Amino acid sequence: MSTLAVHAEQPVTGVPLVLLHAFPLDSGMWDEVARRLDGVPVVRIDAPGFGSTPPRSEAGLEAFALDVVAAIRELGAEQAVLAGLSMGGYVAMAVAEEAPGALAGLALLSTKASADPEPARAARLEMVAAVERGEPEPAAGMLEKLLGATTLRERPDVVDRVRRALAAAPGEGLVWAQRSMAQRPDRLAALAALPEELPALVARGAEDGLMSPEDADAMADALGTDVVEVARAGHLLALEDPATVAAALADLHRRATA
Ligand code: MLT
Repeated sequence: MSTLAVHAEQPVTGVPLVLLHAFPLDSGMWDEVARRLDGVPVVRIDAPGFGSTPPRSEAGLEAFALDVVAAIRELGAEQAVLAGLSMGGYVAMAVAEEAPGALAGLALLSTKASADPEPARAARLEMVAAVERGEPEPAAGMLEKLLGATTLRERPDVVDRVRRALAAAPGEGLVWAQRSMAQRPDRLAALAALPEELPALVARGAEDGLMSPEDADAMADALGTDVVEVARAGHLLALEDPATVAAALADLHRRATA
């Protein structure tokens, strides 16, 4: 049995739409998207150390990716439409490399296929060190990077929600995720190797300061699709514009199951 916390809105029949969350949030990040996906068998999975999935001492997105595939099979499905936002996208790309046959469709939101440059890797390990030193709220400084200018200016409810999530981010989850993301390889070739006809979606917020237009273009080119650019939204697309994200995912799921 997989040790992952797997949340399904309803009994899963057919091809599930599996949602993988961003760092350092949990599957609750998808609440507003999931409630707009009536009729789609939505499944949400918490990453190790976040939400209700127990922490792991060994870093590696690949082991988590294989556990996601095992969880899909435990639901009785051979394949799933996998949708990952940011860190969730890194995990979905690890599935694309390790178990491409498990994919009925792939959505990559606010993410990138490239590995970290050295300064980004060092910043991740600095957060790990901050957790280990026992510093309070080591992820709190991420707020302005995760949300777009429009959300920061006009959506105090979303800002407050993310601020609270960052303050509550669990230390063991932070350590596992930052170490895992720091060691992930470039996965553009794994995307290009997927079957040409695989239904795919690439989306980024127009105000995302973390993932560049070039990152999105590279993934879209590898997958043979176009980038959906979401206006007035930053990095946390699922919280900043859940209606657009839900509509795009419903369309992808329809294409994958037609
Ligand atoms: C995320 O939103 O999951 C993170 O910003 C990803 C990252 O740190 O690369």
